[in-house]
Amino acid sequence: MWDPGKYLAFADHRSRPFYELIARVGATSPRRVVDAGCGPGHLTSALSLRWPSAVVEAFDSSPEMVSAAVAAGVPAVVDDVTTWQPKPDTDVLVTNAVLQWVPSHPALLASWASALSPGAWLAMQVPGNFDGQSHALVRSLVPELARDSPVLSPVEYADLLSSHEVDAWETTYVQRLSGPDPVLEWIKGTALRPVRAALDDAEWKDFLGALAPLLREAYPMRPDGTTWFPFRRIFVVAHIR
Ligand SMILES: C[S@@+](CC[C@H](N)C(=O)[O-])C[C@H]1O[C@@H](n2cnc3c(N)ncnc32)[C@H](O)[C@@H]1O
Repeated sequence: MWDPGKYLAFADHRSRPFYELIARVGATSPRRVVDAGCGPGHLTSALSLRWPSAVVEAFDSSPEMVSAAVAAGVPAVVDDVTTWQPKPDTDVLVTNAVLQWVPSHPALLASWASALSPGAWLAMQVPGNFDGQSHALVRSLVPELARDSPVLSPVEYADLLSSHEVDAWETTYVQRLSGPDPVLEWIKGTALRPVRAALDDAEWKDFLGALAPLLREAYPMRPDGTTWFPFRRIFVVAHIR
């Protein structure tokens, strides 16, 4: 289950890549703009502000996230990126921090790119931190819950979409977090969700008790109480031919 409140706790750090993604989308007056995996909808609103004359469509597979989006005034619905297909008048398709949760990116991107009309824009961003220490430490504690990352390299994404005009890049954000155990709090809202779902309350407490000191060692708190948390993200924008 997604917790919109926990997810939004780091809204500033989590939002910045979205703006840097859509900055590379050159659409001027798109007919339909889609936010695939819209989460709590705060960034969908930014799409409406950027393209006020567009029909904005938003969906997410989490009913909790959809409820939060609807409460924020975004007409989101429950749907799944693995089965959803763009309508023919979709001129901008944005999916931000979503596809890391689903497999088979080559097939999914190929089907979306072929369903979009020439001139449309497909923009995606995914975390590229699967090999980062935070993830590696979680895997070391619960190897039975480890999953393979479906995320590809920027070059692999560029190659998949090479018949279109494609722009792929990566950025490592050196995020300055504050408070006690900030990396643990960050990953509780995202990467640890499947672990929480698989453990009972006592196992979860033990797991957190083991993980917290490892994360503190890997990401030490600075004398001023803040903690650096480097976070790599991968961006791809394709202008469909
Ligand atoms: C990290 S949040 C990103 C939310 C929003 N796009 C943002 O940038 O703030 C990941 C979102 O992906 C959604 N999600 C995960 N798997 C999905 C799927 N198969 N189809 C649609 N949404 C999915 C989750 O429910 C969650 O809201």
